[in-house]
Amino acid sequence: MHHFQYKNEELYCEDLPLRKLAEEVGTPCYVYSHSTLHHHFSVFDQSFASIPHLTCYSVKANSNLALLKLFASLGGGVDIVSGGELFRARKAGIPPERIVYSGVGKTVDEIDFALKEGILMFNIESTEELKAINSRAGVLGCRARVALRVNPDVDPKTHPYISTGMKKSKFGIAADSALQAYDEARSLDHIEIMGVDCHIGSQLTEISPFVDALRRLRALIDQLNAMGISIRYLDLGGGLGIPYDQEAPPHPRDYAQAILQELQGLSCTLIFEPGRVIVGNAGVLVTRVLYTKKTEMKNFVIVDAGMNDLIRPSLYGSYHQIQPIQKRTAETQVVDVVGPICESGDFLAHDRALPVVGGGDLLAVMSAGAYGFTMSSNYNSRPRAVEVLVKGDRYHIIRKRESWEDMVRLEAIPDIF
Ligand code: LLP
Repeated sequence: MHHFQYKNEELYCEDLPLRKLAEEVGTPCYVYSHSTLHHHFSVFDQSFASIPHLTCYSVKANSNLALLKLFASLGGGVDIVSGGELFRARKAGIPPERIVYSGVGKTVDEIDFALKEGILMFNIESTEELKAINSRAGVLGCRARVALRVNPDVDPKTHPYISTGMKKSKFGIAADSALQAYDEARSLDHIEIMGVDCHIGSQLTEISPFVDALRRLRALIDQLNAMGISIRYLDLGGGLGIPYDQEAPPHPRDYAQAILQELQGLSCTLIFEPGRVIVGNAGVLVTRVLYTKKTEMKNFVIVDAGMNDLIRPSLYGSYHQIQPIQKRTAETQVVDVVGPICESGDFLAHDRALPVVGGGDLLAVMSAGAYGFTMSSNYNSRPRAVEVLVKGDRYHIIRKRESWEDMVRLEAIPDIF
């Protein structure tokens, strides 16, 4: 469920007409619905109410401080993958004991920062990383709490760029070397083994790969117990998909039920790292039509948001629904919706039937709350868009639009010319 609905042929976010918002803050702008964020987080989290668990929202999906603060207030933790994300999480008030840290390339500075903050655990992705963390914990005179990220070798049946749990993937430690890696971990003085972790991919629309991965991890936990290594946390990662178009991913409650069924006899605290399912359909990108142009082959709608604002269509061929903010006509036309960037790959939609639009009209690119703003860039020296949080009929600017001055602030011209 989300709170972007038409009233009298006008698209609203909650009780605020998006047209009014766009007139006041300009375009392109990212708009998030507070009620939707709240609802999505609560539904996910409460689906696991019957077991000890921690919902660690995956910051990479949308890392705005205001959103992190909201999830913290709902009892959430976070999954981070960089020092920068840890900095944000702490700034937003996420307690360190609710932070897990994944990623294949943690640097010494990042490891030290996380150790000093006292996060719940590192999800370790290689034995070299394990040794590096052990040695930094030694230098800092503490013990690092860890889980090993195990690659369960299941096919998540999603886009290859966002599938992470197969043998050829760079992520995690191969299932058949995991026992050896745990054995090594327990021999290290500054490592405390806390758990087992996996994350098999993103935008999964079926439950079975999650269940397969869980079964493999349970078997591993049994083997570890038999070796005298006790496991307190089982982290199942994120990955639950959302409807962008015609997909019918499982509802979080069905996902939870399938997981809960597999947990009999297990006494771990479960950790989940959902990103997209919480924020994806809680946000839209509002853009204005600049021009329309007809060529022999195509009808182009040229808008003021480009691949620098939302790269998913260009990078993955992803589908995002596009809706007019004011419904004026039922007449449709098949168009390419393209941005102002100097790349042929700069498009938001190809061959899409849209109501006929003209210069000045506003469009909403739907399902843009996850991996939208966070993957945006300044390519073509385009300032990044403003981000707005709507609650009821009011809005709050949660990130200002960048200025041209902002874009050059960190640059310097050396005195050599
Ligand atoms: N945990 C880990 C370790 C991850 O790598 C990810 C996502 C998540 C959790 C959250 O996954 P989610 O629940 O959002 O599916 N940029 C791509 C998605 C990349 C996902 C990367 N990892 C996209 O726009 O589709």
